[in-house]
Amino acid sequence: MQIPSAFEPPQRLLMGPGPSNVAPSVYQAMARTLVGHLDPTFIKMMEEIKEMLRAVFQTQNAMTFPVSGTGSAGMEFCFVNLLEPGDEAIIGVNGAFGARMADVAARCGANVTKVEAEWGRIIEPSQIADALKKTRPKLVAIVHAETSTGALTPIEELSRITHEAGALLLIDTVTSLGGCPVKVDEWNVDAVYSGTQKCLSCPPGLAPVSLSPRAMDVAAKRKSKVQSWYLDVNLLSSYWGEERVYHHTAPITMNYAIHEGLRLALTEGLENRWNRHRQNHELLKAGLTELGLGIASQKGHQLWQLNAVTVPNGADEAGVRKRLLSEFNIEVGAGLGPLKGKVWRVGLMGETSNPRNVEAFLGAMKQILKK
Ligand SMILES: Cc1ncc(COP(=O)(O)O)c(C=O)c1O
Repeated sequence: MQIPSAFEPPQRLLMGPGPSNVAPSVYQAMARTLVGHLDPTFIKMMEEIKEMLRAVFQTQNAMTFPVSGTGSAGMEFCFVNLLEPGDEAIIGVNGAFGARMADVAARCGANVTKVEAEWGRIIEPSQIADALKKTRPKLVAIVHAETSTGALTPIEELSRITHEAGALLLIDTVTSLGGCPVKVDEWNVDAVYSGTQKCLSCPPGLAPVSLSPRAMDVAAKRKSKVQSWYLDVNLLSSYWGEERVYHHTAPITMNYAIHEGLRLALTEGLENRWNRHRQNHELLKAGLTELGLGIASQKGHQLWQLNAVTVPNGADEAGVRKRLLSEFNIEVGAGLGPLKGKVWRVGLMGETSNPRNVEAFLGAMKQILKK
């Protein structure tokens, strides 16, 4: 075998559905020397990560920490700990990630009732209310920011009706955290997970999670053992809690990364960061209008950080993406499922969300579409 030369990645502008561009100081943090994962300095840093995560999730939940793994590990963590075989669960499905949640819940042995909406539209509270008339679930789960469609489902009313029915509320904030308001305590959310590679400007590799005391109580009183040893919160809480009992070797460098990513988010200020994402989305939308392009997701519920741009009639959807990458070094995403071939998914997440990048994308699209 001929040993290949060292990998030299090109400099891309990551404007797809994630990962987004990594902040320079996050790269610097990741290049720092390794310490052991039970080193006192690392343990102090873990405490700082938990405290900053609570601030970013806007929660007092003690059980708030980054699961080792990507956003999907955060999803599995929430479901495997809260559901047992035979439990009832209602899952909102209005895109690819709602569908993934339904699959994960069913793999936990739960009886899943799917509440569906057309891709691009939100899950309406009345739909969940109707489902709650027919079943008494342990859990209702919703994707807050559907990356596959660019729709943002409001949580407050869904939370109210879910709790009135005595169920736990679980939300997916993989794309929302750090890019638009996520208010775990104010919205009375029991379980939430996210990812590092979108609006937190880090690489993929950790899944921030938070469980309310009510959710922790449910996990503690399970009849059966959590089927996943790796994701069992009852074991993980001894590692991330006071006792520091070895559970697994934390991905140390990724924890350096999230520490820096959270520091950046809090230094900027959450409100400022949300405003930045909103302003750059509006700038993009204005530019798209000038190009005769629109956004496919439901009006009034369009995500700031992920824009599902409608492919105009006659345009070569895949060809445009290919040219954006090869000629302009810009990565955007394709549509998934029913939106395949119909939209380009244009991310303005975290470090990527700035006016310069919006202009670069619009300029490139103008040249490509002219041809
Ligand atoms: C809304 C949402 N949920 C879950 C995931 C899964 O995260 P990951 O790909 O990091 O495992 C993603 C990834 O794009 C996502 O956008």
